[in-house]
Amino acid sequence: MTDTNEDFILGLPKAELHLHIEGSLEPEQMFEFGRRNGIDMPFNSVEEVRAAYAFSNLQDFLDIYYQGAGVLQNEQDFHDMAMAYFRRLHADGGVHAEIFFDPQTHTDRGLPFSIAIDGLLAGMKTAERELGISSGLIMCFLRHLDEDSAMQTLKAAEPWLEHLVGVGLDSSEVGHPPSKFQKVFKAAKERGLTLSAHAGEEGPPEYVWEALDLLKVDRIDHGNRALEDPALVQRLVASEMTLTVCPLSNLKLCVVNDLKDHPMKRMLDLGLKATCNSDDPAYFGGYIGENFTRTARALDLSRAEIVTLAKNSFTGSFLDEERVARHLAAIDAYAA
Ligand code: HPA
Ligand code: ZN
Repeated sequence: MTDTNEDFILGLPKAELHLHIEGSLEPEQMFEFGRRNGIDMPFNSVEEVRAAYAFSNLQDFLDIYYQGAGVLQNEQDFHDMAMAYFRRLHADGGVHAEIFFDPQTHTDRGLPFSIAIDGLLAGMKTAERELGISSGLIMCFLRHLDEDSAMQTLKAAEPWLEHLVGVGLDSSEVGHPPSKFQKVFKAAKERGLTLSAHAGEEGPPEYVWEALDLLKVDRIDHGNRALEDPALVQRLVASEMTLTVCPLSNLKLCVVNDLKDHPMKRMLDLGLKATCNSDDPAYFGGYIGENFTRTARALDLSRAEIVTLAKNSFTGSFLDEERVARHLAAIDAYAA
């Protein structure tokens, strides 16, 4: 890829659809929050923290990610973390984001439910006002916990339902199939929320089938292992299901051994509606811009393919049709 393609990518209007806001907490900010909240850190320096980010699978990462979230104590912390993310998104040409948060990570360590959600909603408002970035909030259930806990979380969210765009499903995938969460997803749908679920990151194609058929999701997060099942690929293509793919995450968590082996290009060739996202950028070494540029370089993506990824990020978003049309027109104007 040429440098001009890199500039082209960074200026291209784009949306991020797969971003865990707790995964945007940079080590510098972790120390800052730890200091102002009087929390002892198990690390002595930013360098030491970064050195600990060597993962061989999803669980390795999750263990350190849940520990890192412990410094988040009040609304201001959540607001500031979100704003730091939105500034990075803005610098990479991002104009819209649908961000995940994990309320159970915070309520299980004793924070009131309101702290994370009110702080994040405030940060989203600031981003709209100061950066012109629109955003939506998706509440994820931790799949290593039981469905009762997810149901209690949905109940706790009742007063905020109009401020959520949807629910999602994340954390340790293998051994925790989507079928475990059928009741809570049905309840969320009845409350007018959109549905998404991580599936096929480490888990088998069967988990993607379950997310589609049992949870009736609107979007699949990751979906890499769907490629092992031709009938599933056909189903995803025919239904124009959006996949929120995360190349640098896949590299760091050893879902792929090299970006050159990443299935992003194959997904586009098959007609799958793939998007390019950062997942947990503070832990995986790059925000959305770097996910685009490094993937484009490794797979020698054409400008047309890069534009398709950006367009998919809007057609796959939960924005209304009119806004999607406006963003698509902006991409066409930019690319012309
Ligand atoms: N996969 C599953 N759960 C997660 C992830 C992920 O990549 N990031 C944060 N929670
Ligand atoms: Zn994720």
